[in-house]
Amino acid sequence: FSYPLPVNEPVLNYAPGSKEREQLKVTLATLKAETLDIPMYIGSEQVFTKNKISIHPPHERKYTLGQFSMGDKKHVQQAIDAALAAKEKWAALSWESRAGIFLKAADLIATKYRFHMNGTTMLGQSKNAYQAEIDSACEIIDFLRFNVHFLSEIYKQQPISGPGMHNRLEYRPLEGFVLAVTPFNFTAIGGNLPTSAAMCGNVVVWKPANTQVYSAQMFMRILKEAGLPDGVINLIYVNGPELGEVCFSHRDFAGVHFTGSTGVFNTMWETIGKNIGRYKSYPRIVGETGGKDFVIAHKSADPAVVATALLRGAFEFQGQKCSAASRAYIPSNIAKEVKKKLVEGINSFKMGMVEDFSNFINAVIDERSFDKIKNYIDKAKKDKDASILAGGSCDKKNGYFIQPTVIETTNPQYLTMCEEIFGPVLTLYVYPASAFEKTLDLVNNTSPYALTGAIISTDRAAVELATRKLENAAGNFYINDKPTGAVVGQQPFGGGRASGTNDKAGFILNLYRWLSARTIKETF
Ligand code: ALA
Repeated sequence: FSYPLPVNEPVLNYAPGSKEREQLKVTLATLKAETLDIPMYIGSEQVFTKNKISIHPPHERKYTLGQFSMGDKKHVQQAIDAALAAKEKWAALSWESRAGIFLKAADLIATKYRFHMNGTTMLGQSKNAYQAEIDSACEIIDFLRFNVHFLSEIYKQQPISGPGMHNRLEYRPLEGFVLAVTPFNFTAIGGNLPTSAAMCGNVVVWKPANTQVYSAQMFMRILKEAGLPDGVINLIYVNGPELGEVCFSHRDFAGVHFTGSTGVFNTMWETIGKNIGRYKSYPRIVGETGGKDFVIAHKSADPAVVATALLRGAFEFQGQKCSAASRAYIPSNIAKEVKKKLVEGINSFKMGMVEDFSNFINAVIDERSFDKIKNYIDKAKKDKDASILAGGSCDKKNGYFIQPTVIETTNPQYLTMCEEIFGPVLTLYVYPASAFEKTLDLVNNTSPYALTGAIISTDRAAVELATRKLENAAGNFYINDKPTGAVVGQQPFGGGRASGTNDKAGFILNLYRWLSARTIKETF
């Protein structure tokens, strides 16, 4: 079964007066009119508990969209049991049948549930329509279709045979269950992490961030409608420590597919290490973690190109993309012009609820996040080596609104040049235009992360120098573009250093991690 390279799902633009804008508006109103009681999905059961957590749009914190049932250790165990019970049948199913389920899910999103996926993402995670479209519609559809393609390419790769001998590789799933832990910032990551493992014949326990449950359950319902057998993916909501305690002490733990913070990933890795003697096999540990993504401009750069890369790269989705630009190195010859454009850009942004499609900026995800981001801004207002160039106001009365903010610093090691903030805060450092090469060293050595980065320059030699000197500073390196917006199949995504295991989501490399090949030699 061969599935040719798909084309990326076309992005709808929700222009004023367009049919899709009207349809999305109707869906938003429908979603807001119902109050969902969201269960966990364990095996064939929908599990409700007494421990309910309410769901509020981050931009309208007094509105209730519904509630979900929190589980505990018992539910983690039940999810593992359900996964293991489903395993034999699922792995024995033909690859064509397995693929058919995920391709059908992609089609269901493209044609039937697009606005539900986008609507739940907009309301639950405070993404504007366009940002939701490229995430919860296009990127999920692409992940599903491209991964089917990549896997069909892997299955074709076979060793040589010869007279008297037939060799083959059997691409088996891992022995045991896979744990998928997914973040709030991309619904598509929730769409990818459990399904890429499941596609390979694995069974999965999936725990999304509490702040993503609203869109995650929508995707789960679509998978069920597409025919995913019970128990193959089990969706549970539990606290991290309880999840870890049960999963990482289980003999059948086979791997974890994670996106989230470096700290949590480190804790997972340590726990897995301590338990290593318990498992049947060495678990696969795949993670995409933090970032402190950079943009460096060269003196040859057009200030307008730099400013656009920064405004979009740092502030789309309130800077909560793991790929978001958060530190900028601007040469002195264009600094004045770049700063002027940044101030103009920020003053032109409209901020508010997602239902008003003209709002470019919405709310940050929750109160904890709001407080953390605000602390960095407040500190920069006081510190001697920092100042606020633009933005800086924060208000959580109705929703968690933080105005896109540019901090300027004279200290390239200033706190907000180094630490991950995960919000709409960009820190800018102006360097002497003649010190480009030295500044590349700064870019390379300032942060422990290495997820994304960009060089803006019209000078080919400068581009080459940056590409070489920053070879380990970003898993995704962009030339004359913002550092966000990787597209499945086009820019395989992931970074090294403290940013993760660099197993490239949306590309063939990722799929290999969920397979355990058996070599079979037959002589005759
Ligand atoms: N795919 C997302 C981006 O590149 C993470 O922005």
